[in-house]
Amino acid sequence: MKLLFIGDIVGQPGRNAVKELLPKLREQHKLDFIIANGENSAGGSGITPRTAGEIFSAGVDAITSGDHLWDQKEVMELLANEKRFLRPLNYPPGTPGQGSAVFEVQSSKSKVQSPLSIAVLNVQGRTFIQPALEHPFLLATEEIKRLRERTKIIFVDFHAEATSEKIAFGRFLDGQVSAVVGTHTHVQTADEQIFPGGTAYLTDAGFTGPHESVLGREIEPIIRRFLTGMPQRFEVAKNNVQLHGAVIEIDDASGKALKIQRVAEAT
Ligand SMILES: [Fe+2]
Ligand SMILES: [Fe+2]
Repeated sequence: MKLLFIGDIVGQPGRNAVKELLPKLREQHKLDFIIANGENSAGGSGITPRTAGEIFSAGVDAITSGDHLWDQKEVMELLANEKRFLRPLNYPPGTPGQGSAVFEVQSSKSKVQSPLSIAVLNVQGRTFIQPALEHPFLLATEEIKRLRERTKIIFVDFHAEATSEKIAFGRFLDGQVSAVVGTHTHVQTADEQIFPGGTAYLTDAGFTGPHESVLGREIEPIIRRFLTGMPQRFEVAKNNVQLHGAVIEIDDASGKALKIQRVAEAT
């Protein structure tokens, strides 16, 4: 099967890019399943039922998140009711929502009896990122053990800041999952590869939104903030809107990755 992962969708420009480009990408890559990180989809900070609804309507099957999870209070409704919406797994027990979900996929080209199952797992790092959550490596291991009883096709969005933590996490999970793709830093890295155990890896998928910006926000206020140290309003920028992510091809029977290809598509 072939899946597309879309890096952090930033604000309305990001949502519009998904709506505009997804039909073309689906056709071009013969996609079976689409996952997107939606943590910045509401005005650049957080996610609401409305922005999640727009992303699902555009054709996305599962939405992951990260440290901006709580920025909009309406997220509580998503956490309570939307099974296709994931938060980082490694919150303490009792936190609303879920860190993983299993989806059924009708793959047209599969040699394996369909439908296929794909598990999506969202985990947050602990280095240079707030809040300090529980141990990502240990909790992910336990969760993946449970998920593998249901399917070998497992996609992991690792929302983390430090490149070292991301690579170490990917290497640690090599052979246990189909793919580990990083989010949060909003700059697409050029290190896509398949590790020896068959896990596809990319340190950061990049972000989907206005790239004439600083990570999706207007440039001037950010420079002013660095110059003065004073708080500024960081509005979502407007220009050079691109969709960033990766297409990953997975062997249905073994769950191992066959190919990973970066995507950077202009609107
Ligand atoms: Fe983030
Ligand atoms: Fe983000």
